[in-house]
Amino acid sequence: MDNRPIGFLDSGVGGLTVVKEMMRQLPEEEIVFIGDQARAPYGPRPAEQIREFTWQMVNFLLTKNVKMIVIACNTATAVVWQEIKEKLDIPVLGVILPGASAAIKATQTGKVGIIGTPMTIKSDAYRQKIQALSPETTVESLSCPRFAPIVESNEMASSVAKKVVYETLASMVGKVDTLIMGCTHYPLLRPIIQNVMGKQVKLIDSGAETVRDVSVLLNYFEINRSRKDIRGDHRFYTTASPKGFREIAEQWLGQEINVEHVEL
Ligand code: DGL
Repeated sequence: MDNRPIGFLDSGVGGLTVVKEMMRQLPEEEIVFIGDQARAPYGPRPAEQIREFTWQMVNFLLTKNVKMIVIACNTATAVVWQEIKEKLDIPVLGVILPGASAAIKATQTGKVGIIGTPMTIKSDAYRQKIQALSPETTVESLSCPRFAPIVESNEMASSVAKKVVYETLASMVGKVDTLIMGCTHYPLLRPIIQNVMGKQVKLIDSGAETVRDVSVLLNYFEINRSRKDIRGDHRFYTTASPKGFREIAEQWLGQEINVEHVEL
């Protein structure tokens, strides 16, 4: 048993798609979340900056005495997960490997698509992981630089969101039977993405897949929170305005939350 919280980080609200799955699959666990909204999106930034900002969030989470860290951001996972995992003595999970494995299991035709931020696509991390595990699977990659900003500005239901998703995904339609939403912001656009791709295409939520791995690791290291202690005492931090964060978060999580501003 270990009643310390689990830390989650993202450039912004995208990591909440992982948190929502956490609350569903492991409701007894306590969560500390940080979103670096003041500096989002990370996707178009140079790798060195993403590395620096991600370490700042990791160090912040360590001050909260977390027992595990989930890098709930594909962009940060692509750039710096390996390094963080090697340096810390608590388990550190990224979202790319779980998403890649789930896509290999899901595809029937061996044709997988991956959409993500410019940095995630440039890193080629998904293609490399998929082809290392399943060399015969082909991977179509597409950078979607406009998706995360739409989510950050809470415009998921707008006509602009529909237009941008339709236009951006046009070149992917009909080419794959499985599409990895390789950015934790994208599940907030899921209905539009599904509509564009067609209902026969299986969408993989890399964050949701990661929560299954969280569960396995908690069991393996025997560091689950005791079930009697469900308190739902989650804490959320943003580097921008708590008001903007709260609006999206409460709508997405379907519950009231505590949000504080933090300077990194
Ligand atoms: N949510 C992040 C990801 O999974 C990053 C989006 C961004 O800041 O560009 O890649």
